[in-house]
Amino acid sequence: MTSGEQASKVAIVTGAGTGIGRASALALLRGGYSVALAGRRMEPLEQTLGQAGSAASRAIAVSTDVGDPASVRALFAKTLESFGRLDVLFNNAGVGAPPVPMEDLTYEQWKLAVDVNLTGVFLCTQQAIQIMKSQDPMGGRIINNGSISAHAPRPNSAPYTATKHGVTGLTKSTSLDGRRYNIACSQIDNGNAATEMTDPMEAGIMQPHGSMAVEPRFDVKHVAETIVYIANLPLDTNVQFMTIMATKMPFIGRG
Ligand SMILES: NC(=O)c1ccc[n+]([C@@H]2O[C@H](COP(=O)([O-])OP(=O)(O)OC[C@H]3O[C@@H](n4cnc5c(N)ncnc54)[C@H](OP(=O)(O)O)[C@@H]3O)[C@@H](O)[C@H]2O)c1
Repeated sequence: MTSGEQASKVAIVTGAGTGIGRASALALLRGGYSVALAGRRMEPLEQTLGQAGSAASRAIAVSTDVGDPASVRALFAKTLESFGRLDVLFNNAGVGAPPVPMEDLTYEQWKLAVDVNLTGVFLCTQQAIQIMKSQDPMGGRIINNGSISAHAPRPNSAPYTATKHGVTGLTKSTSLDGRRYNIACSQIDNGNAATEMTDPMEAGIMQPHGSMAVEPRFDVKHVAETIVYIANLPLDTNVQFMTIMATKMPFIGRG
């Protein structure tokens, strides 16, 4: 870096190999950020890097299981080693559980959703706070990926709905506990962004009274643009909660 040149801001995006995470990581890279891309599988992360063009020189891909404390520690250590600080964490990685009645779920199916959607957000947040409170200038921003399911369940979605409600609790605690360190925390609640996770909606998914219906989706690029908008806010300003959804999806009203 030459003197007078501004170092780029640094972000970590979990689940950056597909869907919302990939679109957001690419948008942050286009916006000048240095980005650490995390996810369990290297191949999709490398495909994201391949779509970044020359900005890939400001990106690293780190195979990470967000539910595993050692793996999460390694991700944050590698990011610090590569880029020297951390300005934005996008806690995006998430999984659903099979859409079966909750009494038929296995313990393992329940636990996977808790490990990724809730414990994963907690472990990454812990690491981010430790870096952000110790760096100069102090502070940073954490953006949690919630869901419409953080407000209202779909049928047969207990693990997903419960963990996404838990994410709301973490967002509120992080917002409060982060204040003293200049750490802002937001939650973005998506409804029907077009990704692999919502592909089944094209064929029809179960509605509250048991019927099946095709649901509208919207372009994931609008989520990515929202993430960049929130990331670029000055730290004295926060989008605390934001819902971005397909306009005509069944949520408001009674379906
Ligand atoms: N699309 C929507 O409309 C919508 C609506 C509400 C909420 N969301 C939330 O948005 C987030 C992204 O969803 P998406 O729609 O983009 O779905 P997606 O394409 O299935 O993305 C999920 C990502 O999470 C990663 N992941 C899963 N388990 C992980 C683990 N243990 N450690 C690290 N990474 C892990 C996956 O990569 P690997 O498999 O390689 O690990 C994948 O890249 C999720 O939190 C989801 O709940 C999406």
